[in-house]
Amino acid sequence: MKKRILALSLTAAMALSLAACGGGTGNTTESGAPETTTGGSETTTVANKDKPLVWFNRQPSNSTTGELDMAALTFNDNTYYVGFDANQGAELQGTMILDYIKAHIDEIDKNGDGIIGYVLAVGDIGHNDSIARTRGVRAALGTAVEKDGVIDSTPVGTNVDGTSTFVQDGTLEVNGKTYTVRELASQEMKNSAGATWDAATAGNAITTWASSFGDQIDIVASNNDGMGMAMFNSWSKANEVPTFGYDANSDAVAAIAEGYGGTISQHADVQAYLTLRVLRNALDGVDIDTGIGTADEAGNVLTDDVFYYDEATRSYYALNVAVTADNYESFLDSTVTYEPVSNQLDAAEHPVKNVWLNIYNSADNFLGSTYQPLLQKYDDLLNLNVEYIAGDGQTESNITNRLSNPGAYDAFAINMVKTDNAASYTGILGQ
Ligand code: BGC
Repeated sequence: MKKRILALSLTAAMALSLAACGGGTGNTTESGAPETTTGGSETTTVANKDKPLVWFNRQPSNSTTGELDMAALTFNDNTYYVGFDANQGAELQGTMILDYIKAHIDEIDKNGDGIIGYVLAVGDIGHNDSIARTRGVRAALGTAVEKDGVIDSTPVGTNVDGTSTFVQDGTLEVNGKTYTVRELASQEMKNSAGATWDAATAGNAITTWASSFGDQIDIVASNNDGMGMAMFNSWSKANEVPTFGYDANSDAVAAIAEGYGGTISQHADVQAYLTLRVLRNALDGVDIDTGIGTADEAGNVLTDDVFYYDEATRSYYALNVAVTADNYESFLDSTVTYEPVSNQLDAAEHPVKNVWLNIYNSADNFLGSTYQPLLQKYDDLLNLNVEYIAGDGQTESNITNRLSNPGAYDAFAINMVKTDNAASYTGILGQ
């Protein structure tokens, strides 16, 4: 309850800026549901600008500076972001790789040159999650350099000779022996059409890198499993080079049995639930914490070891867990709903509502093989009729064009192509 009160006062404080973009209190039914209501001869409909809106996976922000787009995050009283704690996850990923190196120090330096060389696949240089993961790996391995007070996340291209100024050679002492750690190569995996986090590009990159300095590559690291698995299948599996990704997609977890080094679960099972749950609560006109931090009547509730809510940014963040050879067996199916929030809501109390939801890139492994299957399970449990719109990963207008009839929906869930582009959506809803 306290959280809700704070949310309202924050909203009140922002009333002026909201007024400018048309935010305000929606028309609601007695139960609080923002739907068409009939009062005598008068029919009132909730304006699109007042309908619940959740941003997910790509937090509205400036892709150059990382600064959050607060206008988008506070578009109306029922606007939220759902993602995960990028920094905590990035640190975990870095630590997981470092721990692996230490535990396998006797066999890791394949050519015995005293240099532990790694390559890194970068997802999207303008995406907070990608930037955090690059920083996390560099911080843990001692290769990070600071620029303007933060770790530089610029890809090095190739750095086989160790002269890049975006990174430095790290030093690692294990069992009394000192090793150098070097980022041999890294690049943004963007295809020629502009799609980022592109697995095929990563598969090609590792082949190119390996053909010129393969004997120096001791570790392959990736900002996600889609790219990580492409590199594993193209090269590192056959060459027995441990490869580390992020997302805990089912195929990557299964590959741990075949030498994939490890991955990070960003608790997509919790995020997918939160994505739809905040809309459900807003549509029901109940406290936003219902079924989240506070149990609902069906018993759904999350504990604070799997998520937290940041009032100031109206953002829900799931917490990450490392998945390695030690525990991977319990992560083999990434599409299983999270048990504590898997109870069906009563359709009489929570009538069916229509939600417009887009996935920015239908070819994205994480979103397609993990997130969307989870959403599709939760939409049944929460009585939401969700229309899934698949984007091409490159063109925002390809998606926004399919938001041509927002009046047909009660709520919206948006996954932008580019984190700067929130206004392309709110512009449509605000009309
Ligand atoms: C995931 C990536 C995915 C990206 C898409 C990230 O959070 O980890 O795998 O490609 O989101 O926006």
